[in-house]
Amino acid sequence: MKIAVLPGDGIGTEIVAEAIKVLDVLDLPFEMENALVGGAAYEAHGHPLPEATLKLAKEADAILFGAVGDWKYDKLERQFRPEQAIPGLRKNLGLFANFRPAICYEQLVGASSLKPELIAGLDILIIRELTGDIYFGQPRGRRTAPDGAFAGAEEAFDTMRYARPEIERIAHVAFRAARKRSKRVTSVDKANVLETFQFWKDVVTEVGQQYPDVELDHMYVDNAAMQLVRAPKKFDVVVTGNMFGDILSDEAAMLTGSIGMLPSASLNASNRGLYEPSHGSAPDIAGRGIANPLATILSAAMMLRFSLNQPRAADRIESAVKDVLASGLRTADIWAEGTTKVGTREMGDAVVAAITKTT
Ligand code: NAI
Ligand code: MG
Repeated sequence: MKIAVLPGDGIGTEIVAEAIKVLDVLDLPFEMENALVGGAAYEAHGHPLPEATLKLAKEADAILFGAVGDWKYDKLERQFRPEQAIPGLRKNLGLFANFRPAICYEQLVGASSLKPELIAGLDILIIRELTGDIYFGQPRGRRTAPDGAFAGAEEAFDTMRYARPEIERIAHVAFRAARKRSKRVTSVDKANVLETFQFWKDVVTEVGQQYPDVELDHMYVDNAAMQLVRAPKKFDVVVTGNMFGDILSDEAAMLTGSIGMLPSASLNASNRGLYEPSHGSAPDIAGRGIANPLATILSAAMMLRFSLNQPRAADRIESAVKDVLASGLRTADIWAEGTTKVGTREMGDAVVAAITKTT
């Protein structure tokens, strides 16, 4: 089995190095191969997703991804921007199902901006459709408005669309995930205003009939945004489209204390996937050795569980992370009075040490 390792830019290289240390100590029968992506790839090859990187990503059994992007590329033409590597990988590998678990670790209850009683014990799963919706819909562009109140003015437009099979497959993913949890799915839409999301709601409802043991409810996205901070524990599995999922999953991230804690998985139909922290390349702290590597380390655990059939190794990583938090070690983003502040490398070393203890 082969893991493609794509560290990327900014803190991407720092945090992926820690995840590799953790994978190494587990001593599993995997080969790992590195490739450049994002700004690092643009510097070396003039493109954020070079052919060789895409080829490696396609032939690997799983991809461990850091982060891409830096303010210094903001002036580049869109196709050369580091962030373009992400939709490129999603589209080329058919990674349509994005899993973002938002778990509030007991030791970090105080690190969230929400009241402790709202988030203590929080464990929800946001499933975001990743290859459709307004982010990929054609046509899109700029033109002179052909009609309407602003006819003749310059305008821009995008197209929101979902095909039935696209909705069906993500709905199945959500219902199957719910079966392994508390058997509740909330489908988030904007059916009151958008035809695309009335269709979404209809198709999810139909698929739901095949899962009579799972309770399905529907919520408008504006209400869901509100309920996520009002009573987040009322949710279990949330399934939604690409754009709403983008926004809600970042909102949910903050419930847990720090975006530096949140892993993610993006899977295709054959359960091959890309695993990455939910955050970006954090140029504001890159190179200082203070980034939290836990989101990436937990992403590696998801990789072992979902794509590499190593659930036991995944469990060992996850309990090691809990042990390290219980021992009081904190990177700056989750530090609080009475805990011990450590850097990226020390945090990675502590997870490795905790794993070694549990052999
Ligand atoms: P960001 O997630 O990189 O950073 C947001 C804030 O969270 C910053 O203050 C940062 O220091 C902090 N932060 C993020 N990860 C952290 C960690 N592991 N430990 C401690 N603190 C952490 O988002 P931002 O600042 O909006 O974007 C920075 C760059 O990253 C941009 O170029 C953006 O396009 C790119 N980006 C890339 C993503 C990816 O590679 N999947 C996702 C989101 C943004
Ligand atoms: Mg986002």
